[in-house]
Amino acid sequence: MKITRSKTSRLDQVDFENLGFGAGLSDHVFRAEYKDGQWDDGVIEPYGHLRQGLGLHALHYGQAVFEGQKAYKQADGGIAVFRPERNFDRINLSGERMCIPTIPKDLFMNGLMELIRVDRDWVPSGKNQALYLRPFTFASAEWVIAKASDQYTFGIVTCPVGELYSGAIKVKIEQEFTRATQGGVGFAKAAGNYGGSFLATRKAIEEGFSQVLWTDHKEHKFIEEAGTMNVALIINDVLVTPKLSDTILAGITRDSILTLVREWGIEVQERDITVDELLDSVKSGDLQEAFGMGTAAVISPINGFGYQGTVIDCPFKEDGMATRIKTALSDIRYGRVEDSHGWMHRI
Ligand code: COI
Repeated sequence: MKITRSKTSRLDQVDFENLGFGAGLSDHVFRAEYKDGQWDDGVIEPYGHLRQGLGLHALHYGQAVFEGQKAYKQADGGIAVFRPERNFDRINLSGERMCIPTIPKDLFMNGLMELIRVDRDWVPSGKNQALYLRPFTFASAEWVIAKASDQYTFGIVTCPVGELYSGAIKVKIEQEFTRATQGGVGFAKAAGNYGGSFLATRKAIEEGFSQVLWTDHKEHKFIEEAGTMNVALIINDVLVTPKLSDTILAGITRDSILTLVREWGIEVQERDITVDELLDSVKSGDLQEAFGMGTAAVISPINGFGYQGTVIDCPFKEDGMATRIKTALSDIRYGRVEDSHGWMHRI
């Protein structure tokens, strides 16, 4: 793989004491092109601008998918990526739904690992910080023909991040807009799923919430996911979470948390959860905790639900299940305990 190094670095522009989420991209990118039915070997080059014209297919028809994953500075000074094979599998699952050709495993893994090596100084070492990795594929033909593109770009950009949400958050149970429909692309990490959610999210933020809790498209009766994260409830000591379907993204953090919690002997139920059940469990006191789980969100405790113009407070315990899970997951991710699941991929 050809590597062209940047002559200058923007590293000194990063305020590592105050990392937010998503701005301040690292010095280098990985990019590979798909043409005439095959992917090239890819290159690493300095971060720069697209060379495409305004006919760029992805801009017109939204044929684009992405991933979110993280590299962590290890307790021994090394660097490791959390479950990268799962992101590889998922970008191809998303791509299949969006008619995007499969990315070969070597291209994905070598591109990712080599890019992290090149920008290793960008991996932050502060508490709850990581290098966020954003692999993405977009249709790169230049035309306005309304059919799947015949050219694609697979890129990876990275940036040092802190937590997406700091502290407990309130979410609005969405009763008007819809994120996903049966038979649609809700299970895929399709770019348009996010673009389509921004209006509802902006309204929720204006009303004082951090996020939307999406409900099913037919009746707005069942809770689904929160757009940037899956959700879990602790009801009478049982972890309850919406079962996966074609309207919910299969979160890798979700899967890891369910694995840990089951190992601890805690009952997990993956099933339908109605809005009524959620609100009743808050009123009766059966709901002990609620939290979101995602790569960017990590574990975000939920301390209130917005519903039909009112806010229903939800209990949040500093020493509860969310905190226990976050500590256990962080210990694995930052290499403070043995990685008995084989989740960490050392660079
Ligand atoms: C992630 O957790 O990686 C996501 O994709 C959410 C992001 C859109 C903020």
